[in-house]
Amino acid sequence: MPGIRNETNTVSELATSLEDLQRRFDGALEGAADERALEALRVAYLGRSGEVTSLRRSIGTLPPAERPGAGKVINDVVERMEAQLAQAAARLEMRVFEAELSERIDVTFPSVPPQTGSIHPIRRVLRDAASYFERHGFAVVLGLEVETDYYNFDALNIPPTHPAREGFDSFFINDTLLLRPHTSPMQIRTMQHHEPPVAMVAPGRCYRRDAVDARHLFQFNQIEGLLIAGDIHFGHLKGMLTGLCRALFGEDQRVRFRPSFFPFTEPSAEVDTTCPKCKGQSRECNMCGGSGWIELGGSGMVHPNVLREVGYDPDVYSGWAFGFGIERLGLTRYDIDDIRRFVDSDPDFLAQLA
Ligand code: PHE
Repeated sequence: MPGIRNETNTVSELATSLEDLQRRFDGALEGAADERALEALRVAYLGRSGEVTSLRRSIGTLPPAERPGAGKVINDVVERMEAQLAQAAARLEMRVFEAELSERIDVTFPSVPPQTGSIHPIRRVLRDAASYFERHGFAVVLGLEVETDYYNFDALNIPPTHPAREGFDSFFINDTLLLRPHTSPMQIRTMQHHEPPVAMVAPGRCYRRDAVDARHLFQFNQIEGLLIAGDIHFGHLKGMLTGLCRALFGEDQRVRFRPSFFPFTEPSAEVDTTCPKCKGQSRECNMCGGSGWIELGGSGMVHPNVLREVGYDPDVYSGWAFGFGIERLGLTRYDIDDIRRFVDSDPDFLAQLA
């Protein structure tokens, strides 16, 4: 190799050769652009037939007294070169990493918005309906989904042999427990726990043995309402329900009561509201079938037998109750064609209503 003298005779000559070697090594290291160049450098200087190694072999030509000193000088150089190589390798690795990083992340690229959830339309209707009543001083109470037949039927003036049970008895768990088919048990539970006046709404899930189609689910939600005080009359019911429909569907909603029958109310009525889609103006409306009205649920004045059952004196207290289907309200409010969409969990459907 040029400039190298293997025939060194003294430690100082050796040191000069090593300095020269070190200088050339430093220069070559600066020019080493990748891992392979570093490895080639290591082999050329520190490898088995590398330049430093052949210098080390020349120690044997030195006078014995100088050998240990020479060994140390060489070891120092080897150590230094190894450290330099390791540093250079780390620097290179960092440079490669940074280059990859800048390639992969384009900071000017528009960000992908994270998927966020939204409130389910059923919960939204429920919340809006409950909050309308809360604003009017009603409490919101939650009940059990597994109820006894006493709360579901007997206490609501539906004795065991009454044909009204037929439409309600669905999912029995044993002889006396069933998944509640309506939220009306909450009328009884609330009155048992509170002296009048009572003003509450009770939203929640209900279950019935209905075949599933575009208008029916076997599991659905109702909101129950109950107001008991002295001198409550049907006008109060009409006023509150008209207000509810206006809060949910808009200011020009009207309500209509059709005579009906429920064992726990007398008189009883089905409640309809102006079709929010055609406002009663279209004979071909697919929402109301051209009738101009949408059915919301049942209502009526609480039956004296029900008041007596909870220890209220029907001569002193009177009140109204209603029970509306939340899905029914939701279908109407969002102009949805099929009730099953509420339970499909299709994110595209839900995102439209968010
Ligand atoms: N519970 C009745 C039903 O589910 C609705 C209703 C509630 C009727 C309160 C009158 C009073 O059909």
